[in-house]
This record gives sequence, C-alpha cells and structure tokens, in this order.
Amino acid sequence: MTRPKVFVTRLIPRAGLDLLVGACEADIWGEQLPPPRDVVVARARECVGLLALLTDRIDAEVMEAAGPRLRVISNFAVGVDNIDVAEATRRGIAVGNTPGVLTETTADLAWALLMGAARRVVEGDHYVRAGHWQTWEPQLLLGPDVAGATLGIFGFGRIGQAVARRALGFNMRVLYTSRRPVAASYGATEVDFATLLRESDFITIHSPLTTATRHLFNHEAFGQMKAGSILINTARGPLVDQGALYAALASGQLAAAALDVTAPEPIAADDPLLQLPNCLIVPHIGSASIATRDRMAEMAAHNLLAGILGERLPHCVNSEVYTIEGA
Ligand code: DGY
Repeated sequence: MTRPKVFVTRLIPRAGLDLLVGACEADIWGEQLPPPRDVVVARARECVGLLALLTDRIDAEVMEAAGPRLRVISNFAVGVDNIDVAEATRRGIAVGNTPGVLTETTADLAWALLMGAARRVVEGDHYVRAGHWQTWEPQLLLGPDVAGATLGIFGFGRIGQAVARRALGFNMRVLYTSRRPVAASYGATEVDFATLLRESDFITIHSPLTTATRHLFNHEAFGQMKAGSILINTARGPLVDQGALYAALASGQLAAAALDVTAPEPIAADDPLLQLPNCLIVPHIGSASIATRDRMAEMAAHNLLAGILGERLPHCVNSEVYTIEGA
C-alpha cells in the first residue's frame, strides 16, 4: 500500500519524527538552513501533508504546487503568520499549530530578557571579558529596579498571562491590553494602548503579528512611552519598526530593548541595532527548552498525521475548514 507523502521542512526533534516515519513517506530536509523557496515548491508536489517551520513561507504558490491532494499544513510553532491561512481555508486545507506547550518557556525567556535588559547582564559580561573590571564602582552599570515597577503587557493571551503571573512575585503593578475579554487577570488591570505606553516602565509584547499589529511600535508609540522605559519583544519582529526603535534607543527615550525576534530573521549583520549596547538580541529562542521543543514536535506530528488521515486536527487554526462543503 502506498503511504501518504509528506514534506518535513527541517529536522525536528526525534519525538516528532519517530511518529511520522512508518506512518507516511516522509521527505525530510536535513540541512541546518531552511530549504530554499524553489525546493519547498518542488518538494511539496504530490504531498498530502506539509510540516513547516516559521522560516518557511507557505502560500498559494506552494499549495498550488502540492496540488489537490494537500490536506494539511502543520506548523512547528504556535504563530502561523508564515502561512497564508485564508488561502489554505479556501482550498479546504487544515492548518495546525502548537499552542499551550510553549507558554511557560516563552514567558520565562521574556522574563529573562526583562531582567537582563534592566540589570544590564550582557553588558556586564562583556565588560568583564574585555578586562575593564578594575574595582567595585558605585555608578557602574546602573539600571532600573524591576520590583515595584509598572509592567505593561501588550497582548494578554496565554503567554501574556504567564508573564503577569511571574510579575506577581516581583510586586509589580501590571497593565495589559487584550483583543478579547480574559477570564483571569492575575491582579493586572486592562487599559487602552495609549495608557499602556504612557504608564509602563517595561512593555513586553505578546501579540500575534497581524495587519493591525505590524509596526504598531513605531516613532509615535516610542514617543508616548515613558522616558527611560524598556521594551521586550518575544512575539514577532515586524510588530516593531526597528528604525524607530534604533532612534528611540540612541536618543535615550528608551533605556533599553531586548528582542528575541527581529525583522528580518536573522537580523542583518550591519543592522544599526547591533551597534547599541542597550539593545539585547537573542536568536528567536523563546520556546527553546529541550522538553518544550520535544512537545512541539509531537504536537506538530499529531496534527500532520490526523490531517493526512482526514481527521480533525487536535490543534487547528482554521476549523472553519471542516464546515466548508466538500472539504
Ligand atoms: C512560535 O511558536 O510561534 C514561536 O515563535 C517559536 O516557538
């Protein structure tokens, strides 16, 4: 019996790959770097399922190349902005993601970045390694207190709420904005965007990238933020206008920024942000704990397997696909 053909665009943890091998004819891209665009288009041909990463743009061209057999696109991520979900829905293709399992891990990194930027941890490390540490200095590498400060959370979904829970231990005043009403606020207060900008000492971004949120953190927003405040982004790079961020950091309007995500990724080696000591940048590692990446791989594999069997995906972002006639 012929097994359904799937293309897996990178080596994901074994926990997920083992579920696939045996159940389907898995064509796995084994390189460290993502497959080039023409390879994705070519390897998608005749596939029933695609297991993609956030580095792969899965749009109408890829779906067209795959042809009518394509039933499922399973993303190894919770964010699905790399996939044209509307186009997938139109074609009756289910799109899966990995919500929930990376919530705490990503909130941990947001917290690490917040603490690292406030207390200038990376600058301190560079200072020591460069041989500059000569004595204890009363004014060396001063930063703001975290405890007791006001934290603004932009986007109060699973990860935003997990960050709010961490802030309880630091006795912070927590403000948030949310697209939807929330069941639990963990002592945080809902405010509008302007208030969040105006009153927060730290702002941490936890919103999906949409047309409404793209470049929402721009010149105007930075101008409204508290002088000397700190921005953290572990969501998606394009929420922030990086040119405007550079200007706000260089002028001192913002004391610091800490980014897990940039636009583009990787950030260009000559990007001016890399010249600023008060901009901490790590390579999109929000969900990078061993256990979380294993669980993401399992979830992505389960979504893919359900899709190729014509079953409802355990985690589907376009469930309307099941109500479209003929899908
Ligand atoms: C996601 O899942 O969307 C993260 O950005 C990577 O884990």
